[in-house]
Amino acid sequence: MNADALRGKFVVLGVTGSIAVYKVIELARRMTQAGATVQVIMTPGATQFVQPLTFQALTYRPVEVEMFGTFDERAAGHVAMGQQADVVVIAPATAHTIARLAHGFADDLIGTTVLAAHAPLVIAPAMETHMWANPATQANVEALRDRGATIVEPESGELASGLMGQGRLASLEAIGTAIEDALATSTALAGKRVIVTAGPTLEPIDPVRVVTNRSSGKMGYAIAVAAQRAGAEVTLVTGPTALCAPVGVTLVPIESAAELREAVLAALPGAAAVVMAAAIADYRPAKAAEHKLKKREQADEVSLALVKNPDVLQAVVAKRDPRTLVVGFKAETGDAVAEASRMLREKSLDLVVANDVTAKGSEFGSDTDQVTFVSADGAEALPLMSKRDVARRLVAKMAERLAS
Ligand code: CTP
Repeated sequence: MNADALRGKFVVLGVTGSIAVYKVIELARRMTQAGATVQVIMTPGATQFVQPLTFQALTYRPVEVEMFGTFDERAAGHVAMGQQADVVVIAPATAHTIARLAHGFADDLIGTTVLAAHAPLVIAPAMETHMWANPATQANVEALRDRGATIVEPESGELASGLMGQGRLASLEAIGTAIEDALATSTALAGKRVIVTAGPTLEPIDPVRVVTNRSSGKMGYAIAVAAQRAGAEVTLVTGPTALCAPVGVTLVPIESAAELREAVLAALPGAAAVVMAAAIADYRPAKAAEHKLKKREQADEVSLALVKNPDVLQAVVAKRDPRTLVVGFKAETGDAVAEASRMLREKSLDLVVANDVTAKGSEFGSDTDQVTFVSADGAEALPLMSKRDVARRLVAKMAERLAS
């Protein structure tokens, strides 16, 4: 593993009860050799497969198994490791441990450590293929991902049960890369304040009806998580979504475009970057009725008068400090890159993220996107990838821009 990424880092390695424990011994060894302090915590189940002594001999540290074990409880030992950690790695992670972490259980040392940690969390699952595919496991994995954990997907192949399928612990190279990434991005935006907008806006017709759009908020939330993981202080101004609030991010819930505009402008002074991923309604009903509209009082055919909403990006660009980076989004059903280039020029933005929402894998609500970063330097087309990866790439690009 890369010594530059690991030297001097405190890695908490949570080892749970799967046959794949034997592979993780080598991971603990490689991280220790690369200069990290590796503190292993094993569940009692894991000790059925491998003795703690094995890890202890390779990491030169006592292995913790019990909640109130060898460490000093006067120093709140059950949370101290989480607080000290630069990264918490759970490998192999069983379905049981993943479920417990997804629900915040605190009745064992891995649970308390993860709850107390501010550090990035990397989870490498290993289990029988049907357990992995089960909707309960998938929902738990998704909940952890929503909160910012990196899941190193298990591989497909022959499993210990003799079955073929997905469930085999990812390669040590893949887990190692995820650990290095988690450690490497943690300071790129340190000390910077970043505003991210996400989700749809709701424009009231009357007290119960709204005009809205299909935005899921996934892209904006992924950017907020990636920026926070890169060390930024993040304000996430969000319309209503079905997503969990990311840990460590200041959430400002809004409904209408007018509320979004107000929230963004209030947060703007001193911000290093503004990322406008929200799908802001371009129009709102000209007049929101004070009382619920009754259909018996309406004709069979009604029309809704709409008026243009203020352009928030334009207001941000007008009021920003010249050093504040402003990123716009352009979702198109045609030539997204040409439209993004036009928007970059006309609105004086630093970067536009363009995507064609009719392209396969880039549809509204999907977990993946094929985007192009458009800036004064030209257009950089990225391959189809998860929104989380797009977010990481965008944050890296922003950090680069802010540093220069
Ligand atoms: N945006 C904004 N204020 C609005 C509407 C959109 O700041 N009232 C921002 C969005 O957050 C996004 C970008 O502008 O970053 C989208 O640009 P826009 O040109 O409004 O895209 P469309 O709404 O797709 O425009 P058009 O209908 O002209 O294609």
